[in-house]
Amino acid sequence: MRHLIDIRDLAQGEIVSLLDLADGIFAHPEDYREACRYKKLATLFFEPSTRTRLSFEAAMMELGGKVLGFSEAASSSASKGESVSDTVRVVGCYADVIAMRHPKEGAPLAASLRSTVPIINAGDGGHNHPTQTLTDLMTIRREKGSLDNFTIGLCGDLKFGRTVHSLIAALTRCEGVRFVCISPEELRLPGYVRQDVLAKSGAQFAEVRDLAEVMPELDVLYMTRVQRERFFNEEDYLRLKDSYILTPAKLESAKRSLAILHPLPRVNEIDTAIDDDPRACYFRQALYGKFVRMALILKLLEEAGK
Ligand code: CP
Repeated sequence: MRHLIDIRDLAQGEIVSLLDLADGIFAHPEDYREACRYKKLATLFFEPSTRTRLSFEAAMMELGGKVLGFSEAASSSASKGESVSDTVRVVGCYADVIAMRHPKEGAPLAASLRSTVPIINAGDGGHNHPTQTLTDLMTIRREKGSLDNFTIGLCGDLKFGRTVHSLIAALTRCEGVRFVCISPEELRLPGYVRQDVLAKSGAQFAEVRDLAEVMPELDVLYMTRVQRERFFNEEDYLRLKDSYILTPAKLESAKRSLAILHPLPRVNEIDTAIDDDPRACYFRQALYGKFVRMALILKLLEEAGK
């Protein structure tokens, strides 16, 4: 049974094929209207979400399938103590594929070990978020024309930001990507990403604190929210939450061709005055998320023989 728990579960060629398929669906959605007729997607969200859950559900509906699930642990039998393994074994009796978000790192992996249907990790704690990465890659490729040879600034909460961890894992497999990691000292990348992924890949990377100093070098700027829900105390969150606020004045030294991405939700990190700047890609990025999830559902169902 094929699952998607970590972006590295997909070979680079498979990622490119998924992005090609997502572009094809984007161009001709009418060709896919019946592709998942009689199929069901279960969305098991033990943690809040707007984009990921709703884009998965919209994706399955636009493929002609149906959706079921829950959007908070409190409305499932997890609140009575049921394990994620038992939950997915049961949900596998009702659905053909499962997208799961959970606050505990590794929960989707644990679930996948007992599941009879494909499990998609829709975000596990501060660990990974592989379908956001497919979304980010589709956005970069469409905006910049390639996944190779550019400098990306990753800015904000690099410690708890699971989208950053998965995106780094994916981009280290591309050619000539240079990483500039911009964060306060307390929110630097975890060692397992810096050492085991970035350093091991041989990619060029730097860690800095000042966004303004590196702005002119960047081809892509990936802004992130400080992840309040992962902090152990509110005091630290309040001290760090406004470390970086992107404003039109700060963009004056940026390239005209810069692509500004953000996985969203945004809190304060990007001034809304930037939303109408052609370099702001984050709402297009949210749209692309539906198309990569359509492509992923098709791939996993096909491989599962469904
Ligand atoms: N980008 C993202 O995961 O957003 P949601 O938390 O709204 O799903």
